[in-house]
Amino acid sequence: MRIVCIGGGPAGLYFGLLMKKENPAHHITVVERNRPYDTFGWGVVFSDATMENMRAWDAETSDEIESAFNHWDDIEVLIKGRRMRTTGHGFVGIGRKKLLNILQARCEELGVELAFEREVDSDLEFPDADLIIASDGINSKIRNRYRDAFKPDLIMRPNRFIWLGTDKQYDAFTFDFRRTEHGWFQAHIYKFDENTSTFIVETTEDIFTAHGLDNADEAQSIAFCEKLFSEVLDGAKLMSNARHMRGSAWLNFGRLICGKWSHFNGQSHVVLMGDAAHTAHFAIGSGTKLALEDAIELTRQFRNLGGTPDKIPAVLAAYEEVRAVDVARIQNAARNAMEWFEVVGSRYADTLEPEQFMYSLLTRSQRISHENLRVRDKTWLEGYERWFAARAGINVDPDGPSVPPMFTPYRVRGLALANRIVMSPMAMYSAQDGVPNDFHLVHFGSRALGGAGLIFGEMTCVSPDARITPGCLGLWNDEQVAAWKRIVEFVHATTSAKFGLQLGHAGRKGSTRVAWEGIDQPLPEGNWPLISASAMPYMANGQLPRAMTRADMDEVKADFVAAAKRGIEVGFDILELHCAHGYLLSSFLSPLTNRRNDEYGGSHENNARFPLEIFRAIREIWPERKPISVRLSCHDWTEGGNTPADAAIYAKMFKDAGADLVDCSSGQVSKEEKPVYGRLFQTPFSDKVRNEVGIATVAVGAISEADHANSIIAAGRADLCAIARPHLADTAWTLHEAAKIGVKSIVWPKQYLSAKMQYEANLARAAAGPPPS
Ligand SMILES: Cc1cc2nc3c(=O)[nH]c(=O)nc-3n(C[C@H](O)[C@H](O)[C@H](O)COP(=O)(O)OP(=O)(O)OC[C@H]3O[C@@H](n4cnc5c(N)ncnc54)[C@H](O)[C@@H]3O)c2cc1C
Ligand SMILES: Cc1cc2nc3c(=O)[nH]c(=O)nc-3n(C[C@H](O)[C@H](O)[C@H](O)COP(=O)(O)O)c2cc1C
Repeated sequence: MRIVCIGGGPAGLYFGLLMKKENPAHHITVVERNRPYDTFGWGVVFSDATMENMRAWDAETSDEIESAFNHWDDIEVLIKGRRMRTTGHGFVGIGRKKLLNILQARCEELGVELAFEREVDSDLEFPDADLIIASDGINSKIRNRYRDAFKPDLIMRPNRFIWLGTDKQYDAFTFDFRRTEHGWFQAHIYKFDENTSTFIVETTEDIFTAHGLDNADEAQSIAFCEKLFSEVLDGAKLMSNARHMRGSAWLNFGRLICGKWSHFNGQSHVVLMGDAAHTAHFAIGSGTKLALEDAIELTRQFRNLGGTPDKIPAVLAAYEEVRAVDVARIQNAARNAMEWFEVVGSRYADTLEPEQFMYSLLTRSQRISHENLRVRDKTWLEGYERWFAARAGINVDPDGPSVPPMFTPYRVRGLALANRIVMSPMAMYSAQDGVPNDFHLVHFGSRALGGAGLIFGEMTCVSPDARITPGCLGLWNDEQVAAWKRIVEFVHATTSAKFGLQLGHAGRKGSTRVAWEGIDQPLPEGNWPLISASAMPYMANGQLPRAMTRADMDEVKADFVAAAKRGIEVGFDILELHCAHGYLLSSFLSPLTNRRNDEYGGSHENNARFPLEIFRAIREIWPERKPISVRLSCHDWTEGGNTPADAAIYAKMFKDAGADLVDCSSGQVSKEEKPVYGRLFQTPFSDKVRNEVGIATVAVGAISEADHANSIIAAGRADLCAIARPHLADTAWTLHEAAKIGVKSIVWPKQYLSAKMQYEANLARAAAGPPPS
């Protein structure tokens, strides 16, 4: 085959040499605009896994790379006069120049033709080529020629960065955060050869322009960075080698995804590789890894399917199918890390204490969890756990076992929780006339015995017409008060768990069947009239609600106040106002369901007016020492609906009205929603609300292990974690998770004590594996 790689970066060179090695008869040319030893950039980092992969494909290059590598384990963080360090993080770095020189030399040795100093304008310059690799980087001319075929989606991210070097050598991957009069800058610093370290400086666009860096030339930019980071530079100079760049040396990262990676240009097959096809932010240092792994995969497909021109279409299809999955995974992790650095100044740097700031930094991609940090650096993690526990009010024994964050106590107003785990509200549709019965006693009672610090009752409706289904619980009469009292008193008398009341009104989602008879479907008979912010049905075949009048509002407010008063009589410890999931109060907050043009719709302030009126009315009568939380749908997952930015605005309004916690849920507002589910998928909303608005939060949604909860609480992404479905599967979720991570200090009910040791021992035995035979 005749193969031309346009662009001699890691992707083009590595693919060239691998294919030449596969079959020396291939005629392969790599065309590069720069001179052989003339390259931009400083050091790049890789993981051990990439090296292993490379070794399997060409030991010669991997040996050379390995001998030129710099390996380091430590991460050091400098912020607010503190210098903190952790170990066990295992990176390897190499100079980009060195890497390219190794690949160039290997190409020459194998007989790949290298054509330097040639600018390629079009792939059509190579009419004889069977295959053209567009490995011409992020600004790929070749990709841009065939925009319609490749469908590139390039988003320029808001932060500015400058990629510098220094001859000071650092013995740790160093992050330095510095505040100026305009805001925060961060430096990402790592050594990559005997004499040199990469030094990337990053900040937001507004801070960049506030400092006039948009008008600064390279020398002025360097002088600025040298002054700002003088402590960590300790007299060393910063250097640039961005000669190839036009205009400012400060860049914006471009996040690139392509809809398709290959195209037939009428003469040759053209395929994208490396940065031309996709990018991954330097916050997790994976761009070079992706480029090299693309080259490996395309070679593998030629090996598997045949290295002749007729096989090219099948090979390209298989390459894209396999790589698209891996690339998406890395891009996801890179996105989390990148976004962390975009908001670090406004969200974390000023508010989190240095210890917690460092934990948040280390777990920024959400790929590294609490237990993973324990494996990397047990001493540091236990030190952090002790620090966190002391902040939570525990008398920490420096020689005793440390307490993971989810098992630390939490206090809000007069409510003291033994730990940070909440059983989330879950409708059971098992009541008659709104009255809790023996099912509820056993259901709540057994979960309260199972170790959670707080048990929330399901959405409890303020009037018969406020119910979702005829099976929903209520609190509008004395019979209900008495039945609730029996349950709450049992929980208080028998366990250390506290009990929360979630008050709600179904609004336009009311008068439907119980879940197992057709969720959201209208009742076959006996439907009751519905009210909502606007007269819009939830389901196409659903009942049309009436848009609420002021008289309706007064009535509903009176119902909420009366139910809250009954809640006081019952003895609930905390009240949650349900303003999520498309129910009545939520229908006011979302522009999808609130089309009013009076003072109750049309702006954030108007949309929140009625929900806030209810909140204030219940806050007024609810005991001062007892907290109130508000559950919000922080994302409607629907075009035109609320996003986390809107949720933060509403959270601030509720905070100003006296809310103590925001319970950060999402969705169920519109049938058109397209939620993106996944592990901890709603936690970013809680993180945003907590750290931007400055109110305590509850994270909820696909939190299913202690490791998840510990990571969330430890990083300050929430104060409490609500666990819903796992509590249906396991009544003693909290006790069991404690045992799984070896926490012995959690208190089991005295009646069950004899099972505790056996349970822990069995888990320890299973973890140790089978006995030697
Ligand atoms: C600040 C910063 C830090 C980074 N840190 C890391 C890191 O730590 N780890 C990591 O793995 N990655 C890192 N990267 C990413 C990494 O540099 C790229 O992802 C990687 O180089 C992609 O390889 P590539 O071969 O696809 O493209 P490139 O390396 O961009 O190579 C493309 C080549 O094509 C040539 N070219 C372009 N157009 C033409 C043309 N028309 N004619 C001829 N030649 C052309 C260019 O001169 C260049 O040599 C970082 C990137 C930046 C910006
Ligand atoms: C059966 C069931 C009933 C639910 N009922 C309620 C409810 O009454 N009020 C509420 O706010 N959320 C309700 N939810 C949502 C949960 O509280 C929780 O937010 C959601 O299940 C995500 O958490 P998970 O991934 O831990 O299950 C319900 C969830 C389930 C599975």
